[in-house]
Amino acid sequence: MSRLPRRLPTSKSFEARSAAAHRAEPSRTVRNRGLAANAGIDTVAIRGGRRPDPTTGAILTPIYQTTTYAQDAVGVHKGHTYSRASNPTVSALEDALGALENTPPAVCFSTGLAAITTLFLALLKAGDHVVVSDVVYGGTVRLLNLVLEPLGITASFVDTSDVNAVEDAITSRTRLVFVETPANPTLKLVDVEAIARITKKLGIPLAVDNTFLTPVLFRPLDLGGDITVYSTTKYIEGHNATVGGSISTRDAKLLDRLRLFRKSLGSIQAPFDAWLTLKGLKTLPLRIRQHSRSALEVARFLESHPKVAKVFYPGLSEFPQAELALRQNRSQLGTKIEGKRSLKNADSETFFGGIVAFEVAGGVDSGVTVMNNVQLCTLAENLGATETLITHPVSMTHGDVPREQRERTGITDGLIRLSVGLEDPADIIADLEQALDQVVVQATPRSARITRTTRTTIKTRGRARQLA
Ligand SMILES: Cc1ncc(COP(=O)(O)O)c(C=O)c1O
Repeated sequence: MSRLPRRLPTSKSFEARSAAAHRAEPSRTVRNRGLAANAGIDTVAIRGGRRPDPTTGAILTPIYQTTTYAQDAVGVHKGHTYSRASNPTVSALEDALGALENTPPAVCFSTGLAAITTLFLALLKAGDHVVVSDVVYGGTVRLLNLVLEPLGITASFVDTSDVNAVEDAITSRTRLVFVETPANPTLKLVDVEAIARITKKLGIPLAVDNTFLTPVLFRPLDLGGDITVYSTTKYIEGHNATVGGSISTRDAKLLDRLRLFRKSLGSIQAPFDAWLTLKGLKTLPLRIRQHSRSALEVARFLESHPKVAKVFYPGLSEFPQAELALRQNRSQLGTKIEGKRSLKNADSETFFGGIVAFEVAGGVDSGVTVMNNVQLCTLAENLGATETLITHPVSMTHGDVPREQRERTGITDGLIRLSVGLEDPADIIADLEQALDQVVVQATPRSARITRTTRTTIKTRGRARQLA
């Protein structure tokens, strides 16, 4: 009977070998073979942290679709023991994400929300308090209110665009400040450098959900942030094919803890999803460039349309935090702008991401008319992928945010979130134009000029079960 070749245990003590075998995953550093230190972001996205498969030379890391790994002897293995703890395809994605953000390998999760859940549970216990942006992804609010509050972890939802409000909200029990910028769905920004000055002084970790801009457009860790969180479901994978999440930090102890909690909670990413994300990541800078260019065009179209009441896009000079967007988005994509950047010298090669939010004049019914009449754009949840998606946050992604919090923070019933995709921007604009044509303008005054053409209702059947 043939036997697998076995390597004899080394002289290491049994305890040492056994402890090593039980680590969630051995510590790794990102290898950037052949990459110049100043390699451009497109090069890093394609090559960074990647190497051909060591067993076959396959240029792409294969999908290691396996549960377990044969061990050479008790306590002697090749780095992976069980795919809830680690998997070579997932590790390859973690290396590539680490290269992109100039951190050690990231930690990848089954979803963005699994990443956030694992982070909260790794850093917080009963009696602890977390300061959170008052505008965040609705699932983050639901997690804090529905799951963590009954476990004794409390959250204050604060306007984190106001540095003083953050400082005032911090108590002796605060163990984490968690911000999202640009915020989903209103695109409100957080001055990460200013908040980091406070958290550093107090020794509280600052986590930034950087899903909307990705490390390609924004580097919170270079501005004093400690942790970045991503829903890789969005731009990083970018093709509406997977759900996934990741966390990056330069804190080695926290990385170990996150891996241990991921193993304990069972929140690791699946190898096939990691493989698809590795593939998507290669074109991230290319896609972000085009998403941003098209979003700016769409935002300008909407801004000039008589039936559109409000447009939120950080690249528009009317956006209240346009200067902060310019200062903070250290775009590596476009022409370098010499000297101090200002809205005057920002050119079309300054990038602000692919999400635009807007309200149609005439309120909720007019907004619903537009959402129900688009033909090219798809009415769906998700963002950051090739297809343009139009979303109604109140009935879709933010339905579990208490109404009072939504109203206070500008998540109005009529707000529309548009994730501008990679179709020809002229086609996206033509589609929005024909949908806006369905909203009939009557006599002045302007506030009374819009009436309904179609009797539309917001479909909320089975809402509690369907909210993402
Ligand atoms: C900013 C942000 N963070 C986190 C999440 C959660 O990610 P996932 O849907 O991958 O769980 C989302 C989802 O929309 C999001 O928009």
